[in-house]
Order: sequence, then C-alpha cells, then structure tokens
Amino acid sequence: GITRNFSSSAPQNAIKTVTVVGGGLMGSGIAQVAAQAGQNVTLVDLKPELLEKAQKSIQNNLTRVGKKMYKDDVSKVENFVKDSINRIKVSTQIEDGVNSDLIIEAIVEKLDVKQELFNKLDQLAPEHTILATNTSLISINEIGAGIKRKDRYGGLHFFNPVPVMRLLEVIKGEGISESTYQTMMEWGKAIGKTCITCKDTPGFVVNRLLGPYSAEALRMYERGDATKEDIDIGMKLGAGYPMGPFELADYTGLDTNKFALQVMYEKTKNPVFRRIPLLDRMVAEGKLGIKTGEGFYKYK
Ligand code: CAA
Ligand code: NAD
Repeated sequence: GITRNFSSSAPQNAIKTVTVVGGGLMGSGIAQVAAQAGQNVTLVDLKPELLEKAQKSIQNNLTRVGKKMYKDDVSKVENFVKDSINRIKVSTQIEDGVNSDLIIEAIVEKLDVKQELFNKLDQLAPEHTILATNTSLISINEIGAGIKRKDRYGGLHFFNPVPVMRLLEVIKGEGISESTYQTMMEWGKAIGKTCITCKDTPGFVVNRLLGPYSAEALRMYERGDATKEDIDIGMKLGAGYPMGPFELADYTGLDTNKFALQVMYEKTKNPVFRRIPLLDRMVAEGKLGIKTGEGFYKYK
C-alpha cells in the first residue's frame, strides 16, 4: 500500500528531529547524545522539576564530554555545551513532541504504562515517524501490540552511562520494515554509537549475558569462595572489565538487579537467574548501592 511505498523510498539517515519521552537517567543521556550530534531534540517528562534536573545533568555531562573533545582548546567547550543544550527543547506535554522523525520512549519499566504511551504516540505522530522503546526487559512486541505502524517500530536499547557506552542494540520487532531497520542503524551511527542487532528476546544480547555473570559473582561471594574485593579485582585485571561485578551492581542499583533477575527467570526459566538470598536481604535493608550511599561498598 501507500504506507509501504513511502517507508521503502524514504532516504537513509532520514532522522533530523528526535523526541525522547522520559528524562530520567537514560532519557537525559539519549537526549544529550542526539543533541551533541547536531539533532533537534524534544525532551518530555511529567513535571517541570524533572525536566530541570535532566537539563542540569545534561549540562554537567556535556561539559565532561566537551573537555575531552577540546582538550587542546578549552575555549571551545563553552560553545559546544551551549549549542548542544540549545538544541534540546523541553516540555511536559507529549503533544509538543509528536512531530519528530523519531520518538524514543525511556519511561518507567511498566508494560501497561508503556503500551498506553505508544498507543497515543501512534495516533498523534505523523505517518513517517518511527517509534522506538529503550526497554531493558520487556518484550518490544508486547509494548507495541496495540499500534498500527508496526513497520515503523522497534527497540533502541542504550547502556548506562549513555554518553560513554559506545553500544546501541537495535531490536527488530515482528513487523519492522527493512527501511525502518536501516534508518535506525544509520541513526545510531550518526550519534556515534556502534550498533548491533538482536531479535526481541529476553535481555537481548548484553543483559542476557551480563545477568548470569553478575548472578554467579554474587553466589561466589555468598558461598565465601572469595571476597567481593578480590572478585572485582579478578574480573577487572583478569578479564578486562572496567568495573568488577560488585562495583557494577552498586552502580546499577541492587533493586534494579533484583528486578532484572526476577524478570529474566520468569521469561527464560533458566536456573542461573533464580533468586539470590543475599541480594534479597540487601534490598530489604535498603542497601541499594551508590544511590543510597551503601551497597556492597560504602559511598559516604
Ligand atoms: N557523561 C559523560 N561522561 C562520563 C559520564 C557521563 N555520565 N560518566 C563518566 N564519564 C567519563 C568521565 O568523564 C571519564 O572521562 P575521561 O576518561 O576522559 O576522564 C570517563 O568517562 C571515565 O569515567 P571515570 O574516570 O569517572 O570512571 P571510570 O573510569 O570508572 O568509568 C564508567 C566509569 C564509564 C561507568 C566505567 O566504569 C564503565 O564503563 N563501567 C561499566 C558500565 C556498564 O557496564 N554499563 C552497562 C550496564 S548494563 C545497562 O546499562 C543496560 C541495562 O539495560 C540495564
Ligand atoms: P528513570 O526512573 O531514571 O527515568 C524515567 C523517567 O520517565 C522519569 O523521569 C519519569 O518521570 C518519566 N516518566 C514516567 N512515566 C512517564 C510518562 N508517562 N510520560 C513521560 N515521562 C514519564 O529510569 P531509567 O533508568 O532512565 O529507565 C528508563 C527506561 O530505560 C526503562 O524502560 C529502563 O528499563 C530502560 N533502561 C534502563 C537502563 C539503566 O541502566 N537504568 C539501561 C537501559 C535501559
């Protein structure tokens, strides 16, 4: 039909304007990397104070990136930060963000809330707009079950911290067109990421493999095979990881780790994802990692 002809003849790297819905940890990072790459961005969140917080965090991280980019000419950092910030419009109204070439969802990890948002975006956005979710754990086909434009829908899964991690997982939904897939891959490249492709499977590539690694590390420590410090040193110096598994768990948040483990177990039934009593206990005690000042290590 007409829609199909339109999408298959669309030019490559057609994305000039991007909307990011959800300005938390991930959404603010996604908005930043798109703006840094010269794109016009609209960032949408529920409350003005959340948008202000996102803008502050983007400004700080842009300064870190700018200092690295222009280490031989510090005078350029300020303009780089200002120009990038100026490309990001913020709004609490989703209607202000629907007229973009690409809309990326980075809101709470809840199926019904995400479905409701996508159904609305599908109705409000222009025909050519591509919709994408940054979900870590939910099936992208389930999130997009109610939308009509299944050929213009997929997953764009980023990694924390978004401005630093070089990977983007491009997830193929069941109805994605070749043109949409190619546009997503080109866009990832345009914002400086290396893209890999994965089907809509639990945890995609990276979390499917990081999960068992992290779970086994916790079990080693729980059994008393080695200290957490030695396990962390082991994986940094013996396997080249930038952080050891306990440092990474504290960085990601133990509540997030527990939730991920539970979801992965429900979806795969693989016993490697079974509950870890030590993790349950620490979460119950409020030791969630860096964000609460204590996890496996202390941060105060
Ligand atoms: N924005 C911009 N720059 C940042 C940054 C941010 N948010 N955070 C760190 N940086 C920069 C720093 O400025 C620094 O730059 P220089 O080297 O040029 O000075 C560089 O990154 C390194 O930072 P630090 O020196 O502060 O600390 P570090 O060397 O320990 O690096 C790290 C920090 C990048 C987080 C690194 O430890 C790392 O890569 N850790 C592993 C993170 C990881 O595995 N993430 C994936 C988690 S899984 C996921 O995200 C998917 C999911 O669905 C849950
Ligand atoms: P977060 O809690 O930091 O941010 C979520 C933001 O979305 C909040 O600011 C919230 O106010 C906003 N929000 C919630 N509902 C909304 C709605 N209906 N409309 C507009 N804004 C809304 O969460 P996060 O860590 O940035 O995660 C966001 C998404 O990214 C989740 O799906 C998560 O699974 C995924 N993800 C997280 C990580 C990670 O390491 N944290 C990595 C990759 C992917």
